[in-house]
Amino acid sequence: MRHILVPEDLTAHEIEAIFAISHDLESKYDAGLRDALLPGRVLALVFEKPSLRTRVSFEAAMAHLGGSSVFLGEDAGFSSSRESIADFGRVLSQYADAIVCRSKAHDTILALAAAATVPVINGLSDYTHPCQALADVYTLKEQVGRVAGLTFTFVGDGNNVARSLAVVCGLLGMRFVLAAPPQYQFDDAFRAHLKALLPNAEIVETTDPVAAVKGAAVVYTDVWASMGQEKERAVRLEAFKPYQVNADLMHHCPQAFFMHCLPARRGEEVTDDVIDGPQSLVVDEAANRMHVQKGLLAWLLAK
Ligand code: CP
Ligand code: NVA
Repeated sequence: MRHILVPEDLTAHEIEAIFAISHDLESKYDAGLRDALLPGRVLALVFEKPSLRTRVSFEAAMAHLGGSSVFLGEDAGFSSSRESIADFGRVLSQYADAIVCRSKAHDTILALAAAATVPVINGLSDYTHPCQALADVYTLKEQVGRVAGLTFTFVGDGNNVARSLAVVCGLLGMRFVLAAPPQYQFDDAFRAHLKALLPNAEIVETTDPVAAVKGAAVVYTDVWASMGQEKERAVRLEAFKPYQVNADLMHHCPQAFFMHCLPARRGEEVTDDVIDGPQSLVVDEAANRMHVQKGLLAWLLAK
């Protein structure tokens, strides 16, 4: 039994294996075929925050694979005074074959996983978003044919999505560059973690977005104020102003694709002309959430 709580719960070799299954299932899906690899299996989704992509892509993935899913929102009483997280996890494991959890605090997912007797998959926490990063790098691989040696540039907040991407890029031999104001770059604990986990990876942090995008294969951004950071919004909008991904910035990297995990705050971290422009892969990227999660579910659960 394996939990996927952070991207580094997978090795590079395992990520490649998941991508291979995902690619096979995606090709079949495009041809109108749905491989029922998980008949009768049940996926529970326990979400403490809103979601479009993560929720629907997991639910559709399970339906296509011949299984089903149960969505548990606030009324299920997860992480509330109704019952302990441990009791919740032990009991839910009796009904479901795997659990996807989106939590406010990463520790909540860790507590659920500690009690669950079926695999728990992180569907976003304040710390990391592993399924997003897997789909993003898979999307780049589909476009270029390979990813090792490419530069992945993230312009914006060094938060959950950026952390997951730094790890997946490092695992797969890519160069990762984060351009952000100093106070929104990675913290020392995460830097030390990256150094220990990926001693040979090239992970660079800078305050210069123009230098960061030069030579990049991808320019990526995410919202400046994530779910749970609403009170910091005004301060963040001011700090991130020089980091908007707009046509001026993209002129420095005509070869690069543009990516965004979505939802986007158009006119803040990205302008309409970039997100809707010829360099943008945002719709493919969102579509690939489903294909890669199918690969992950099949890899975790299929006999
Ligand atoms: N990118 C992503 O995780 O989107 P949702 O918040 O809509 O799931
Ligand atoms: N960083 C964003 C990602 C949303 C998919 C958030 O946590 O709100």
